[in-house]
Amino acid sequence: MKAKILIVDDDPDIATMLEDRLQASDYGTVIARDGVEALELIEQETPHLMLLDLDMPRLTGLEVLKRLQKVRPADDLPVIVMTAHASIDAAVEAMKAGAYDFLTKPLDKDHLLIVIAKAIERDSLKRQVACLKSEVDGRYASIVGMSAKIRTVMESAQRAAKSDASVLLLGESGTGKELFARSIHQWSLRQNLPLVVINCVALTETLLENELFGHERGAFTGADRLQKGKLEMAEGGTIFLDEIGDMSFPLQAKLLRVLQDREFHRVGGTRLVSVNIRIIAATNKNLQQAVKAGQFREDLFFRLNVISLTLPPLRERPDDLPALAKFFLNRHAREAKRPGMMFSLAAMEAMSRYPWPGNIRELENVVARAVVLNQSDTIETDMLSLDAMGRTMPGELPPHLSLPYHESLEAHSRYIIERAIEEAGGNQSKAADRLKLQRTYLARLLKQQKEKEEPE
Ligand SMILES: Nc1ncnc2c1ncn2[C@@H]1O[C@H](COP(=O)(O)OP(=O)(O)OP(=O)(O)O)[C@@H](O)[C@H]1O
Ligand SMILES: [Mg+2]
Repeated sequence: MKAKILIVDDDPDIATMLEDRLQASDYGTVIARDGVEALELIEQETPHLMLLDLDMPRLTGLEVLKRLQKVRPADDLPVIVMTAHASIDAAVEAMKAGAYDFLTKPLDKDHLLIVIAKAIERDSLKRQVACLKSEVDGRYASIVGMSAKIRTVMESAQRAAKSDASVLLLGESGTGKELFARSIHQWSLRQNLPLVVINCVALTETLLENELFGHERGAFTGADRLQKGKLEMAEGGTIFLDEIGDMSFPLQAKLLRVLQDREFHRVGGTRLVSVNIRIIAATNKNLQQAVKAGQFREDLFFRLNVISLTLPPLRERPDDLPALAKFFLNRHAREAKRPGMMFSLAAMEAMSRYPWPGNIRELENVVARAVVLNQSDTIETDMLSLDAMGRTMPGELPPHLSLPYHESLEAHSRYIIERAIEEAGGNQSKAADRLKLQRTYLARLLKQQKEKEEPE
């Protein structure tokens, strides 16, 4: 699409000259001879950019800018003002009133085109960001559930959001901790500033330190320039420390310092950097127990635990199940371009009976899989694969019990590992956690199983 530029100048020679140049560069143009006409044309023609002379009769460029800010938000239409060399002060004032840039007369042709192209590009990026942001916000604004349990948590979360206090989100895996963290940020005064997520389990200690605090140039081999860490990137906004229970002990001490003083050193740095951030942390571990066992610093726990919210497991709020199941069905059916899908009554009942150890995440996965696998518009119980991992119906023996001793043990080991991994949403570290195994030991077991399945 051709970008349309509104040229506003009372000097017809300049207006025509600009029109020729812009049309030669493939822009569409409209001309206004003074400020009053400019305001009319903005309404009628919805241009993408305005080139505005400051020195005009009837209504000066500056007055046009000020009126524009009243009728349309300043950022809606990028404005480049044009001024004679002598009136730089006026240009500065125009910038304060919301102009994107200014050009001095006589106009330099190349410079003119560069400034216009940049303004249009920036405007289009801005629109894209706004569009993506509303999409993301929409995704997170939707906390489904009317049960008393979830309502209570939601109300506390909304109240907490209005304060700047640290929030600790607790609850089993898949209960919606991240969703709530994002929602709290959205409901807070910091909503238009960044929310930066740090996954404390995914990184080794040195990497995590680098990621949080950033580093100075020359801090280590390969650090050829200063890099800001996530704490600094979140300036003014919120930091979400996910899986905080998995943070190493030494790093906990460093984090505590940041929480106390909102100050830290970049790796290899001597200067203190200060930040204004709000902290939200989440874990599916029992932190109080971890404190007792000496794995989690008590002082850090108290810092994080100013407001704590516990998300109830799905099995404790069965009332919400139908609404959640339908919500995910709609989402995935829409994505698969198959609107109008529904659950059979029996399928809905089977879901209501099922204990959902992986909570809402498991429910979403089950529904997503059913949408993909199901050919018809009605999802039946067998499409839900609720017992896909060998979970058996009452009264029935698991098939591997009829195997000889060693094979039976192996089959059972495979079964519980597969199940733990599935319930952890494919995340091996979390699966190891559930099984109370070392992550490396679980990896070795998996490797052994794989070798047995696929002998050389
Ligand atoms: N009340 C809810 N309404 C709608 N969707 C939800 C709700 N709660 C959770 N979800 C969805 O369920 C999925 C899992 O939620 P989330 O990632 O927030 O859980 P979590 O507690 O952080 O899990 P984990 O401990 O495994 O990281 C996400 O896709 C999330 O959007
Ligand atoms: Mg999470």
